[in-house]
Amino acid sequence: MPAIHIGPYRLGGRAFLAPMAGVTDLPFRRLCLRMGAALAAGEMLSADARLWETEESRRRRDHSGEPEPRVVQIAGGDPQMMADAARRNVDAGAQVIDVNMGCPAKKVCSKEAGSALLRDERLVAAILEATVRAAGVPVTLKMRTGWNPDRRNGVTVARIAEASGVAALAVHGRTRDCRFAGAAEYRTIAAIKQAVRIPVIANGDIDSAHKAVAVLRATGADGVMIGRAAQGRPWIFREIVAALAGADVRPEPSAREVRDIICAHLRDLYGFYGPGTGARIARKHIGWYCRERPQASAFRQSVMKVESAEGQLAAVRDYFDALSQAAAA
Ligand SMILES: Cc1cc2nc3c(=O)[nH]c(=O)nc-3n(C[C@H](O)[C@H](O)[C@H](O)COP(=O)(O)O)c2cc1C
Repeated sequence: MPAIHIGPYRLGGRAFLAPMAGVTDLPFRRLCLRMGAALAAGEMLSADARLWETEESRRRRDHSGEPEPRVVQIAGGDPQMMADAARRNVDAGAQVIDVNMGCPAKKVCSKEAGSALLRDERLVAAILEATVRAAGVPVTLKMRTGWNPDRRNGVTVARIAEASGVAALAVHGRTRDCRFAGAAEYRTIAAIKQAVRIPVIANGDIDSAHKAVAVLRATGADGVMIGRAAQGRPWIFREIVAALAGADVRPEPSAREVRDIICAHLRDLYGFYGPGTGARIARKHIGWYCRERPQASAFRQSVMKVESAEGQLAAVRDYFDALSQAAAA
């Protein structure tokens, strides 16, 4: 299978980290990229530049130390605003602009944005053409399979995107109306892959290396995009890399290795956000990391009360050391 190219960038793999607001901050992206993710878009940024002066927005636009290409996702419903947002982000160092038409229920500046746009194909074309023209770097599109199950216009939208100069598509196998309900369907993704020549990345409910291989086979897509399954399991990327190389799926990492991965992640969070905020942000990741582990709920309850970064790090280390000792006994 030939390597995926996005404009001038030749990617080293086929498993992408899905953009997730509130999750895929710089520390988590760096971690997933180290684990083998081929590309990781930042958290969505509103196209309305007036909202960029907040601390949160400033952090979202921070890509320091991130391997190339740096991908910035923007969302908005106004072509001119999207074009301006693309230009300004490229001036600030973005190397790929990802347009969000995949997120349900988003309004930006009282205009519909995200997957709500899929209903208006003319507006989709206007936004993509304006963004491509202004960006001067590759523009990718994150979309769903359509507006609702009766109007699965994903193939039309994909063709519009290709004609507008979009460099690659990531397709979540649900319609906008489906939000997260039901199972993702891959038939429409397969039809989209048949309809365009640009790379197509399949997304939705891919939660193991085995499933990644099956979805690639079923859709003919060039790559897969992983969202929720990477929460607390960033090593899913190296598992997919191994499976696609034909190697045996790696065994679950040991408690000791997981401890080291988490501790490095926590330290990165404390450095990025500062220790106080970092410890608060880390809580959800800790919850995900210990999902389905022994005594997880008791540990979660106690660690959620710890406020200091050092205390949190020590509690996590002790918990995983105890798991490691129990496994060795
Ligand atoms: C917490 C959360 C935040 C998300 N934020 C975004 C976002 O900012 N932009 C976007 O395009 N999609 C967003 N999504 C959708 C994901 O990128 C992805 O398409 C979806 O989760 C399906 O993939 P999965 O089944 O692998 O999780 C978000 C999903 C979740 C769970």
